[in-house]
Amino acid sequence: MAPADPRQVEEIARLLANRVRQDAARSGIARRDAHPKPHGLVSARFEVSADLPPALRHGLFATPRTFPAWIRFSNGSPRVQSDRRPDQRGMAIKVMGVPGEKLQSDPGEELAHDLVLASAPCFFIRTADDYVSFVRAQVKRPAFRVLAFFVGPNPLRWRLHELRALIRSLKRTADLLDTRYWSQVPYRLGPNIVKYSARPASTAACWPSSRDPQFLRTRLIERLKQGPVAFDFLVQVQTDTRTMPSDDATVEWDEARAPFHKVATIHVPRQDIDTAERWATVDRLAFSPWHCLAEHEPLGPMNQIRRQVYLLVASTRAEINGQRESQTTAVG
Ligand code: HEM
Repeated sequence: MAPADPRQVEEIARLLANRVRQDAARSGIARRDAHPKPHGLVSARFEVSADLPPALRHGLFATPRTFPAWIRFSNGSPRVQSDRRPDQRGMAIKVMGVPGEKLQSDPGEELAHDLVLASAPCFFIRTADDYVSFVRAQVKRPAFRVLAFFVGPNPLRWRLHELRALIRSLKRTADLLDTRYWSQVPYRLGPNIVKYSARPASTAACWPSSRDPQFLRTRLIERLKQGPVAFDFLVQVQTDTRTMPSDDATVEWDEARAPFHKVATIHVPRQDIDTAERWATVDRLAFSPWHCLAEHEPLGPMNQIRRQVYLLVASTRAEINGQRESQTTAVG
């Protein structure tokens, strides 16, 4: 698959940052272009396992130790909408206090290593060309234009594989802490190419059905008031370059042929996340797959696009909202 052309990346970043500006002019606040609706900012500990095989002991996982971390849970839709609608949910983890130079970092966050995950195993766009067409359709808004990206006037150019991947990724969610998350796109891990996943490791909650459009936030707050939960953090090592491509994020790597290995535990202690300080901080934070150690270099055309896009969208938000300084360390 062709790598992203820098001019395409620039166009995507410009179109999305413009959309953030236009939305901010209407609403008075600049939100993320994707995953704008947060459910909460959660404090956690990222404990690297002691018994890892040497092949996985690289970068963040090189030595067994425990890092403090923040997790932002979100809805994926660019529109802030009810939690009852099918969607992808985001789990963005900021592991803190990680020594070593990062491929990209925000001022004051040089020690942060971000792991950006969502609740589907694969992405729905393969190439940089397609991403440009998708964003052009998306910024023009009416839903039929986005639909035309998948099934346009010429049936020979329908993108049914992508449409299926998108539909499969949009799910109803009962509880963010009982949901599994994936990186969807690959990363280097020393000599390996891997994908990440976070899998719930606590007993699932049993909730009655709810009509509350914010029920995911309510349940997150309630559950963490009651007690701790945990996730296993896993890596899946690529074992075949043909059936597990690193340049096509629409292909799910078969777990039977490339099993996930646990490399860390994410401990989420009992806490009150419903505080003015947490809500003030959750949207000031900026995550990026490029906030990482070089041993974890993000791979593939989608990650190439993300390098510039996340930076520009986050700095546009910060500029409009007047929150240039890093707030990570300010959270209690
Ligand atoms: C070319 C592909 C992609 C583009 C252009 C893109 C774009 C964006 C943008 C602009 C943001 C907002 C950043 C900010 O303002 O701080 C964002 C956030 C996010 N994206 Fe992507 N994205 C892409 C692929 C992916 C993939 C493959 C995943 C899968 C895990 C993903 C998961 C997320 C999550 C979870 C967030 C929210 C992070 C947070 O909580 O702050 N994105 N994305």
